[in-house]
Amino acid sequence: MSNIGSYEERSKNFDWSISEKKLDYKDGDAINIGWYCSDRICQMGKANKTALIWEGLGGVEKEYTFNDIRLRSNSIASFLKEQGINNEDRVCLFMDKIPELYIGFLGVLKLGAIAQPLFSAFGDESLFVRLDNAKTKAIITQKKHVKKVRKIVNQMPYLERIIIVDYDGKHPLREREISFNMDEAEKVESFDCFPTKAESPSVLHYTSGTTGQPKGVKHVHYSLISQYLTSKWVLDLKDDDIYWCTADPGWVTGTSYGIIGPWSLGITQCVLDTGFSAESWYKFIEKRGVTVWYSAPTAIRSLMKAGDELVKEFDLTSLRHLASVGEPLNAEAVIWSDKVFGKSFLDTYWQTETGSIMLTNFPGMKIKPGSMGKPFPGVTATVLDVETLEPITEIGKAGLIGFKPDWPALMRGFWANEETYKKKFKNGWYLPGDRASIDSDGYYWFIGRDDDVINTAGHLVSPFEVESALLEHESVAESAVVAKPDDVNMEVVKAFVTIKPGYTADKDLELKIMNFIRKKLSPLAMPQEIEYVDSLPKTRSGKIMRRVLHAQEWGEEVGDLSTLEND
Ligand code: WTA
Repeated sequence: MSNIGSYEERSKNFDWSISEKKLDYKDGDAINIGWYCSDRICQMGKANKTALIWEGLGGVEKEYTFNDIRLRSNSIASFLKEQGINNEDRVCLFMDKIPELYIGFLGVLKLGAIAQPLFSAFGDESLFVRLDNAKTKAIITQKKHVKKVRKIVNQMPYLERIIIVDYDGKHPLREREISFNMDEAEKVESFDCFPTKAESPSVLHYTSGTTGQPKGVKHVHYSLISQYLTSKWVLDLKDDDIYWCTADPGWVTGTSYGIIGPWSLGITQCVLDTGFSAESWYKFIEKRGVTVWYSAPTAIRSLMKAGDELVKEFDLTSLRHLASVGEPLNAEAVIWSDKVFGKSFLDTYWQTETGSIMLTNFPGMKIKPGSMGKPFPGVTATVLDVETLEPITEIGKAGLIGFKPDWPALMRGFWANEETYKKKFKNGWYLPGDRASIDSDGYYWFIGRDDDVINTAGHLVSPFEVESALLEHESVAESAVVAKPDDVNMEVVKAFVTIKPGYTADKDLELKIMNFIRKKLSPLAMPQEIEYVDSLPKTRSGKIMRRVLHAQEWGEEVGDLSTLEND
């Protein structure tokens, strides 16, 4: 029997107080996610239960009980306090998927500070724009990433502390740098968590838009109410589960469902901190006895590519529930997973701004492969007419997804960008910026994004950020960046550039430019192809028309070109 039982029953008279009651929370109480994910679980008698099973490169393993994560997050919180970090200060977590990232996240929240997790593969430029926007006071990082921080530190007078979790004493620490070893630090038996309230800020995740710099999506401690219940009903987490969320906490899935959801339910989770290979993933599931697996379409397509025979080499019978998020999950992937694992991946739809799962397939519900399923109980969803922004009544007609902005985990703002935040709400609806249709059974079908953001392997990349970085390369005069179709990653970044006189448009330059972007931004943002052109399509006012290039890449009709300058 699944935790949700009957979707129809649960949807009738739904109230978020169901979740509040389970968490013993009443309106006006203090609510601190760090405490809920560790101290409370210990108080409930699970202090000695395993919270985290971690495996890194070369088969290194570590395990932590709920009491271990309670004590260590206390140590981190007290250390930060000693360093002069206060509630609501921004503390960036810039680490690989190591235990310090997961436990440090709780420590930052216990202090009442705002956790700002950033993907550790980010280059110095990507890191700088995000720290600069938040005026981050401290960054917790590893030796291997400190170089990137050092490169930009002089531009960041507000960054008071650079905390290195694996300092080995080999090279002297520089100004503002300090060592903190989580496992060796003195255990702090009790730490008075900052009495954050429902609306106190908790997490700041950065997401990319079409225009402007990335936006800092501000969440609050009350988001726990959504994250707890969706983990219970959608991920179907139960006390004896071994749960594996493959997402990196540098992105929202890795925090909402890779830390907060499972730990607030007292669930054992495991983390594999190595690169992707189908073999190592199957081996991990077999070795750890993973029961619930939350992953992403690109990973599933990569596993499909590795073939059915490989699956048979492993005992994967522990798996009982699979779910996916981040990009459209194609019907073939759903059917394939049912064939090889005996279970279908259930598609879930949500985004950084929504904080928790919004549209989803539930365990026990009839699955229509290729569909995102139905709204989570308590979520009022619709598709809106693009022009009038009124709900569409015609079955199957495409429109903009709209949600009534009233669920607990909805973002509370974009950091220092109120104007853009306001634009996300229209006519009483929150607009995630995606298009979909609803069929006669109430199932949602994804159509596409309503902007130019590139979704590569489930990660959003802003064409604007890549275009700006390209212009910083000495050879590039103009640039336009669009998505190009890809079998596995769904989309990859493609750049069109015009180059300055004196440079030769050849393979060598292409590789140099690619590498430049990889280092500055990230491997995800690196164009997989650079096409040299003599000129870029522009409107009469000089704006580059990405849609012309996009249509060309996807073999689609270009549409109205009347505003095009150079046709
Ligand atoms: C896309 C990730 C189709 C969508 C949790 C959304 C999806 C963006 C799905 C959010 C899905 C997410 N089917 N598209 N099941 N899930 N998306 O903020 O465009 O990194 O707006 O959050 O990914 O990406 P984000």
